[in-house]
Amino acid sequence: MKILAIESSCDETACAVVEDGVKELVSVVASSKDFHEKTGGVVPEVASRKQLEFIFPVLERTIEDYCEKTGCSGKEQAIASIDALAVTVGPGLIGSLVVGVTAAKTLSMAWKKPLIPVNHLVGHIYANFTGNPSGITFPAVCLLVSGGHTDLVLMKGHGDLVYLGGTMDDAAGECFDKVARMMGISRYLGGALLSKKALECKEQGVAKLFPRPMLDQDNYDFSFSGLKTAVKRYLDSGEREVPCTAREFEEAVVDVLTAKTMKAVNNFGVKSLLVGGGVSANSRLRKSLKKETEKAGVSLFIPEPRLCTDNAVYIASAAYFNNVTKALNEIKAEPSLNIMGLV
Ligand code: KG4
Ligand code: ZN
Repeated sequence: MKILAIESSCDETACAVVEDGVKELVSVVASSKDFHEKTGGVVPEVASRKQLEFIFPVLERTIEDYCEKTGCSGKEQAIASIDALAVTVGPGLIGSLVVGVTAAKTLSMAWKKPLIPVNHLVGHIYANFTGNPSGITFPAVCLLVSGGHTDLVLMKGHGDLVYLGGTMDDAAGECFDKVARMMGISRYLGGALLSKKALECKEQGVAKLFPRPMLDQDNYDFSFSGLKTAVKRYLDSGEREVPCTAREFEEAVVDVLTAKTMKAVNNFGVKSLLVGGGVSANSRLRKSLKKETEKAGVSLFIPEPRLCTDNAVYIASAAYFNNVTKALNEIKAEPSLNIMGLV
C-alpha cells in the first residue's frame, strides 16, 4: 500500500510517498522560512503565496524521485502504482492549508484515488512509526512539542487518542523562538540555534535561575509565558551572558516537559513514550527523556531529527494506520467523490 501525502500547514511545502505506513520511499520538503526571517515571524499571506509557488515543483519532484527509486518506466506508471493520497487538513494557517488540500483533492479526482485527511498533530506522533515501528506498545503516552502546541496525549491504539493536558499559553517551541529573538540569536524559529548557543556555556552545573512553571500542580498542563517574562527581566537587568542564560532557559523548559511527561507515564503505567514535533529535535530534551525512561523501564521513541520538524512522511504514516480501510471502501463505492468529508 503506497500513500502519497501532502503537508502544507505553515511554511513548509512537503510531499512524500510511504509504503505500508513505515517505509519512506521519497520525501521532498521546500520551505519559505528565509522570507519569514526578514519579518521576524510568519506573515500568513506570504506563507500561503509561497505554498502556491512551491506546490507544483514539489509534487513534480516527488513523482520524479519516486519513479527513479522504484525504477518505473514513466510518470503514468508511477502514478498508477500509488494506492491513495493523504493531506494535512489542520491545525495550521488557513491560507497555507488550502493550497495543499486543493492540490490533494484535485489529484484525488484526476487520478481516481482515495484521499485521506490527516490532523497535523496526530501526524507528528506517527513520525515514530516510520522506519522502525517494532516495540511500540499501547497504551502509550505521547508528548507533542511543536511551534504551536505542547500537549500530552494518551494513545490507546490507532485512532484512539485521549487528551490529557497542554499549554495554557505559549507552546514550548514558541517560547524557544521568542527567547531566541530576545537574545538576538535569531529573528525566526530560533529554537535550534538557541540550543546550539547554550552549548557554548562553560559554567559547571545549573543555577536554576528561572522558574519551572506548573510543576507542582496535579495536572498535565503547562505554561511557558511566565518563563519567557522571567528571562526577559533577567536580560533587561544587564546580566546578559547569552550562552549560559540560554542554557538556564533550556534546562527549565526541559525539566518541566520531562517531569510532566514522566508523571503521565507513571500514572497511566504505560510502557511506551512517543515524542513528536519540532522541539523533540532538542538534544537536551532527548537526553533527559532517555535518562528518565531508562530509569522507569519504559521504551522511548523519538523520531530522527529530520522527521521531527514538518514533513509529509508522517502524514502518510498517520493516514495508513488510521483511515486507509475506510478510504479504500469509499473509493470502491463512489470513485469520483472520494474526498472523505473534505469541503
Ligand atoms: O513541528 P514544527 O516543525 O512546526 C510546527 O508544527 O509548529 O516545530 C517548529 C518548532 C519551532 O518553534 C522551532 O524553533 C522548534 O520547533 N525547534 C526546536 C529545535 N528544533 C526545532 N526547539 C528547540 N530545540 C531544537 N533543536
Ligand atoms: Zn508541526
